[in-house]
Amino acid sequence: MIVVTGASGNVGGQVVALLAAAGERVTAVSRRTAELPEGVRQVRADLDDPAGLKDAFEGADALFLLVAGQNPQAILDAAMAGGVRRVVLLSSQGAGTRPDFYRHPAAFEDAVRRSGLEWTILRPGGFHSNAYAWAESVRGGRSAAAPFGDVGLPTIDPADIAEVAAAVLREDGHAGRVYELTGPAPTTPRERVAAIGAALGTPVRFAEQTREEARAQMLQFMPEQVVEGTLAILGEPTDAEQRVSPDVERVLGRAPRSFADWAVRNASAFR
Ligand SMILES: NC(=O)c1ccc[n+]([C@@H]2O[C@H](COP(=O)([O-])OP(=O)(O)OC[C@H]3O[C@@H](n4cnc5c(N)ncnc54)[C@H](OP(=O)(O)O)[C@@H]3O)[C@@H](O)[C@H]2O)c1
Repeated sequence: MIVVTGASGNVGGQVVALLAAAGERVTAVSRRTAELPEGVRQVRADLDDPAGLKDAFEGADALFLLVAGQNPQAILDAAMAGGVRRVVLLSSQGAGTRPDFYRHPAAFEDAVRRSGLEWTILRPGGFHSNAYAWAESVRGGRSAAAPFGDVGLPTIDPADIAEVAAAVLREDGHAGRVYELTGPAPTTPRERVAAIGAALGTPVRFAEQTREEARAQMLQFMPEQVVEGTLAILGEPTDAEQRVSPDVERVLGRAPRSFADWAVRNASAFR
């Protein structure tokens, strides 16, 4: 049985669906009630209260863990007590390139490496789906605002992250690996907005934000340290942050999906 945390979220929900479709027994963990495929067991629990996870881990072999809660060691102890032998951690590119800003995922990585479990770490860069932040302004006024309009980054499709996670949870041969997950090519915010316009069949105006405007907006839903790290990646990416990684193709045997492809599949959110 495989336990999937973050099951009510973007990536975790798709991991649950893929595993269930492959015939795996799945336990889905989240605080909110998630809509789940038939046959998936739901456990509502908080990763900040590892004692409450005991029931979820009973009889589990593998764990898909996302970075939430303050005590990764306690989560892993509860997982091992339930029988978990393999853990796949959804970390973040920043844990490798800017560990001083991304302390939370870096701490989860340390705990996973020291756990004695068979571990694999996934380090995605920015998600294609961060473009949902533009959905309201595109729907309302056919415009989208972002900073650093001409800086390119190889953002990744969350569906590809989920597919990699499902493969790594089910297959042997990934133990002790750190996979950097990116899309197939760098795109700039201006190009991503244009791709949404193309998917809609109508132009969308790009409005360049200043760093301060972006910072104020991001502080509404991210801790300050993560905001500073994210602004640094968006504005002054290192070579490592701009590089296209071969790892999605290595695991899935196909290229990662482009932002334009994501925009077409998700156009209804912007209509
Ligand atoms: N967006 C990016 O560009 C990016 C880049 C690199 C890495 N990441 C990482 O990728 C992760 C997944 O992204 P996503 O788009 O799938 O996120 P999401 O849609 O916001 O989902 C987050 C999930 O985490 C669960 N969760 C949060 N706190 C929890 C807690 N204390 N206990 C139990 N569950 C908790 C939420 O469930 P409930 O609220 O129902 O509990 C939800 O299912 C993020 O956490 C982020 O660290 C994101």
